[in-house]
Amino acid sequence: MARINWNEPRFDKEDLKEVIEVIETSYVNEGPKTKELEEKFREYLGVKHVIFTTNATAALFLALKADAIIRGIKDFEVIVPDMTMIATATAVSWAGGKVVLADVEKDRMTIDPEEIKKKISPKTTAILPVHIIGRAPDMAALQRIAQENNLTIIEDAAGALGSKNRDGRFLGTIGKVGCFSLQSNKLVTCGQGGVIVTDDDQYYEAIRRLRDFGRLSNKEFLHEEVGYNLKFNDLSAALALSQFRKLEERKELMVSQRNQYESELKSIEKIAFPRTDLNFGEIPLWVEIFAEERDELIEYLKASEIYARPCWPAIHRNPPYRNQGNNEDYPNASSISDNVLWLPNGPAISPEQITFISNKIKEFYNREKPPIKLEKIHEDKRGSIHLVEDLLPSDKEFTFLEINKGYARGGCLHSNDEHLVVVKGKIRFICGEEETIVGMGESARIPANRAHAFIALEDSVVSEWGITSEEKNHDAKDPQLRALVDEINESQNF
Ligand SMILES: Cc1ncc(COP(=O)(O)O)c(C=O)c1O
Repeated sequence: MARINWNEPRFDKEDLKEVIEVIETSYVNEGPKTKELEEKFREYLGVKHVIFTTNATAALFLALKADAIIRGIKDFEVIVPDMTMIATATAVSWAGGKVVLADVEKDRMTIDPEEIKKKISPKTTAILPVHIIGRAPDMAALQRIAQENNLTIIEDAAGALGSKNRDGRFLGTIGKVGCFSLQSNKLVTCGQGGVIVTDDDQYYEAIRRLRDFGRLSNKEFLHEEVGYNLKFNDLSAALALSQFRKLEERKELMVSQRNQYESELKSIEKIAFPRTDLNFGEIPLWVEIFAEERDELIEYLKASEIYARPCWPAIHRNPPYRNQGNNEDYPNASSISDNVLWLPNGPAISPEQITFISNKIKEFYNREKPPIKLEKIHEDKRGSIHLVEDLLPSDKEFTFLEINKGYARGGCLHSNDEHLVVVKGKIRFICGEEETIVGMGESARIPANRAHAFIALEDSVVSEWGITSEEKNHDAKDPQLRALVDEINESQNF
């Protein structure tokens, strides 16, 4: 079979005809085609106002900025799910707000209302729920929280055009403002594009002005405030108009592709599909699965020219938002990041290809696994270090440290979280300011950038994993802890 890409758009002669028509009129700026597209979206979604912009990140930014202007504040916080594409957080940062992360529900991947409640502060002004791959969080609960705390709901419906909530309303039309994306792996695409919808006249006017250099109205050249130029263009609008005509047929295709995968893969216990309410009209824009051995599966499929995609890293794992906590604060988003992948789907994928991909997945889980290989990479009076080859996905290392009673190892810190399990014996585990005894069968986390060391209270074996060999080569040493480790190893006095 030829290469199967993860998700590709498809264009036809109708699309081409629409674009050529605009080129022939020479009016390529924002004009009549954009107006026509606005009308189509207004009618389809049943909303009062529709505004087009350059992309959904800009759409979210404009909505957040308008909210801050209307509230008359500069110092504000916005609650964002930890599991989303980085754009959601980026938009808050652009608007000058502080991103406050909340964990998500594991089986739906959407923001957990109970987690939102824990994150509200006097500075919170908005909640930014993400309708991830067409699935909504509990919007009724979010609305109650918003009302009780005077918060604005701005919906990130970037990947949810045409998807419906349990109450039958279109996602993106429930909060104060909703934002959609027309980027290339969406149901309606023109390469890049963003759509803002609202029923609120004040938000509409604020967003319209901001988007167009602060202009008072479309016809005037007076600019009341410093705005932005985030307008759309008729070339993109023409393509999006033609694509929009295919929306209903594409919605059906997404549902049938997801159903086909689910039926072909139902015998495999090591994968699970997130809970999606297809009966209520949720449209699975992409097909995601929770997969054991996720990264190995991706590599296995790649060998057959099938390109699946790992889920986004949780927002707190991205350096600009690292001050927002660690994996333990967001267990569900972290687990989703580690275990979810997106299978190829979309208008370019055929039912035969889905069968081919599903068979490869079955083949992967039924394969015979090679025996685990251990390589001794170091030995001295303290004990030895064994590297377990090819056990972990990517280039993360998995090592077994044999530590003789009375000896110590460590004194360094790494830029990523690590984990350990005591496979044999008992250790004193020093981690930053904390000290614990970890016995056989017990585990511990070594948070990123925390100096740590182990001292064997008995002959012990500790398994350790989480960072790459490259990172290990650039170990930072904590001089004080290192000195303690050296002292123990010299004296064996523990
Ligand atoms: C959840 C989410 N929010 C925002 C965006 C940003 O959309 P755009 O690429 O149109 O800026 C995306 C893009 O796919 C997304 O998936």
